[in-house]
Amino acid sequence: MCGIIGYIGERQVLPVLLEGLRRLEYRGYDSAGVVFLEDGKINIIKVKGRVFDLEEKIFSELPKNPKSPGLGHTRWATHGEPSDENAHPHFDCKEMLAVVHNGIIENYYELKKELQERGHKFNSATDTEVIVHLVEDFINQGLDLKIAFFSALKRLKGAYAIGLISKENPEFIMVARNLSPVVIGLGEGENFLASDIPALLPFTKKVLFLNDGEVAILSKDKVEIFDLEGNRVKRDPVIITWDLASAEKGGFPHFLLKEIYEQPEAIKHTLLGRVDLDKRDIDFSKEGLEKEFLEDVEKIFIVACGTSYHAGLVAKYLIENNLKIPVEVDLASEFRYRSPLINSKTLFIAVSQSGETADTLAGLRLAKKMGAKILSICNVLGSTIARESEVVLYTQAGPEISVASTKAFVTQVLIFILFTLYLKKLFYKENEKREKLEALIKLPSVLEKFTKEVHSEVKKIAKKWYNVGNCLYLGRNILYPIALEGALKLKEISYIHAEGYAAGEMKHGPIALIEEDFPTVILAAKETGIIYEKTLSNAEEVKSRRGPIIAFVSENSEEFKKLSDDFVGIPLTFYEFLPIFYVIPLQLFAYEMAVLRGCDVDKPRNLAKSVTVE
Ligand code: AGP
Repeated sequence: MCGIIGYIGERQVLPVLLEGLRRLEYRGYDSAGVVFLEDGKINIIKVKGRVFDLEEKIFSELPKNPKSPGLGHTRWATHGEPSDENAHPHFDCKEMLAVVHNGIIENYYELKKELQERGHKFNSATDTEVIVHLVEDFINQGLDLKIAFFSALKRLKGAYAIGLISKENPEFIMVARNLSPVVIGLGEGENFLASDIPALLPFTKKVLFLNDGEVAILSKDKVEIFDLEGNRVKRDPVIITWDLASAEKGGFPHFLLKEIYEQPEAIKHTLLGRVDLDKRDIDFSKEGLEKEFLEDVEKIFIVACGTSYHAGLVAKYLIENNLKIPVEVDLASEFRYRSPLINSKTLFIAVSQSGETADTLAGLRLAKKMGAKILSICNVLGSTIARESEVVLYTQAGPEISVASTKAFVTQVLIFILFTLYLKKLFYKENEKREKLEALIKLPSVLEKFTKEVHSEVKKIAKKWYNVGNCLYLGRNILYPIALEGALKLKEISYIHAEGYAAGEMKHGPIALIEEDFPTVILAAKETGIIYEKTLSNAEEVKSRRGPIIAFVSENSEEFKKLSDDFVGIPLTFYEFLPIFYVIPLQLFAYEMAVLRGCDVDKPRNLAKSVTVE
């Protein structure tokens, strides 16, 4: 996610902006910039790189008389690769306005075309730049800054946290929020805005939170809040009691827990611009995934490591169930040293959160050399794997700070769900059932409620088992990769030996492990029909050997309630969504076990966030 800081008041504006940006660095970014007034002009200084590089550039340009209002921005690229030009802030044509933005403007493509047809010249490949040209366009039509700002907001679709300043109106900072957080900091004869509380803490602990669809107008002595219709909104300030460390985690004790709770928002951002409920349409064509690219594909290889590999295994069930195209899923470290059968009719899909994993990159290069079509699913825009792919479908999960991958995994699975439904539309002319698309759109709010509810249940169970030495995870069909992922989460953050296994394999070995102090986590979903029944039999095999069972199973499963030592009910959903629902309690279970064992949850021993070496 991008970071925003804004200031209007009597302080030296640049030190305020730079200190605020430094406090937002933890969010992850690839470029940074500031804008401020100087002798009646707007001055923008921005770089691809770190805040440190920005400071260097500022000192090299030595602005003579920088004044507030000012805005600062750290960019996490979503549209337009990391570069000086794509860094924020962005000017309008006449350099009378400047904007910073966090979020995704879903309809920027159409807006940019419309504005260009009206003569606007764009300098970047970002979605953000349409905002400042839209405001300019309304001002060109004779509206004043405030009305022009409101009018522009009404044309925007998608997620935004916006700060905008005008050289004609230096007494204001215009602010707006929709789906991306904005916090207003209140001072004496000065006011601030930021994406997140840590940026404000050096200056004030008295804050106001904007809600979606609200606008704030900041001047030195007052903050006015309105809804999009211009009606005034009353909002009481709150006093922040967090210290900086907990503020960076949004009040959560660890980034891992924060990122588990961010999964609904990550899903929301990943859906933006790709699902149109009214037209019952899923569309990746704007991202280059055209029918021509896919129509002669006879086989798909999905290649990845770790958690991303598990997302690929889920995709195999989704794609083969719906599209009858054979799918091979490979660990990248194996793929690159075997002789995979690849030709020009092969689609190679690399899955990588970081986009830098050495084995996955090597696999991609091997497949490219053998003539395959190259598609990647990445979370980091402009990463090496993304740059070397013909088509990239970005998970919009925002920076994933914790070493253990959670929201990236969930959005990778979501991309594969959308990919499958999209190909069904392209090649089978099957528009997805409306109720499934409705469920997809509602997923973020359903998961937000589910995460909170299931967390308290899981926390109790973890208290019972956190001293075990081993744990077996069993699942079948589309829940088998989730058993693998649940086991990986537990072993990598709690250091408990955990093994994921296909439940049907019990008789072929693992059943020898079952003892009274060896719990088995079992995943079973009634939506899978006979598969559920078969998994129930496996559970009975475990029980008959006095093995304890921790069941993560459909909430209406009376059989498992009776059979299990601990039971976590999962709401019924569509088959394709099962992996997302079932992985969340397993992530929370691993988290709570690791915390109880006093492990370094965000930076587990021996692990790196991105394995860029073999
Ligand atoms: C996941 O929790 C691990 N941190 C690790 O397995 C990770 O998924 C793997 O290293 C692949 O990383 P990537 O997605 O960045 O390629």
